[in-house]
Amino acid sequence: MKVRFRIRRFDPLHQAEPYWQAYSVEVKEGMTVLEALLKISEDDDPTLSFRRSCRSAICGSCAMTINGFPRLACSTQVLPQYRKKGEMTVEPLSNHQVIKDLAVDMTPFWNRMEKVSPYLAPKEEPKDGWVIRKEDAAAIDSAQKCIMCGSCNAVCDSLEADPNFIGPAASVKAWRLVGDVREGMKKKRLERLSEGHGVWDCVRCVHCTEYCPKDVRPLEAIERLRAKAIEKKVVDNHGAKHTLALVDSVKRVGRLDEAAMTFKTLGFLRSLGMIPLGLKMEMHGKLPHLIIFPAIDGIKEVRKIYSAVERRKKKKE
Ligand code: SF4
Ligand code: SF4
Ligand code: FES
Repeated sequence: MKVRFRIRRFDPLHQAEPYWQAYSVEVKEGMTVLEALLKISEDDDPTLSFRRSCRSAICGSCAMTINGFPRLACSTQVLPQYRKKGEMTVEPLSNHQVIKDLAVDMTPFWNRMEKVSPYLAPKEEPKDGWVIRKEDAAAIDSAQKCIMCGSCNAVCDSLEADPNFIGPAASVKAWRLVGDVREGMKKKRLERLSEGHGVWDCVRCVHCTEYCPKDVRPLEAIERLRAKAIEKKVVDNHGAKHTLALVDSVKRVGRLDEAAMTFKTLGFLRSLGMIPLGLKMEMHGKLPHLIIFPAIDGIKEVRKIYSAVERRKKKKE
């Protein structure tokens, strides 16, 4: 059957604006978007630019936006998409600059990767060799599946707001190394990752995990890095302080004591900067009581949960 493809084209060196171009392609059951693009390029329009290499969902080079979401062109079949949407649109990955048509500049992606020193810095090997327990291998298993396609960075809300954010892909690589029992620079890595634009800047929109074509689950890697940072006492930053204040607040009163959390996260002096916001909240009757903040009725049950978690933690140690 004939399927109409609308492809977003742009040559920044010669054109002022991107534009849509339509192509009609004869599509068979099982045909992938990459095969359709190759057909267009071979039969209709050799000027259409896109990347591909392995054609087997291994190299990561064919990631693009297909019907609004990042996908690998070589592992996305046309007809299921077409039947679902009634059309086929193909665009470059978002959050990336276009070099030409569907080919984007991956330099910032690799620069972020470089920032996390993406290689093992092993500590001294034990006399009897390394023993890697099943659970240690399992902890970094999904991180090892990353094919560096950039789809997660393309949908990352934090990266869209702050191009200096380390991003989900580099965080996955960082966890691959911090989670490795042989790694000798864990604390140093965690200190670097806890600085501004690091893992605490993730807003947990979950898009990276939702759209990763290899089920790497980048948000899980970020959560593990944060937990490890707290475990290693790398806590002199707003993200860790906020998390610890939240845990403390729920344990103390069973809910968020926002005023106390602000003081604990920002410290006294910086909390003064929140006064204008506090006044606005007061005007709308939304300012929580600053001194008396009673615990919820079921606080004893909440504390029992905390005790159970602490007991389990001790047992593991
Ligand atoms: S984590 Fe997933 S989406 Fe991100 S670069 Fe790796 S494979 Fe691609
Ligand atoms: S969960 Fe965090 S890292 Fe993942 S896409 Fe959202 S903001 Fe980015
Ligand atoms: S061509 Fe290699 S992942 Fe698609």
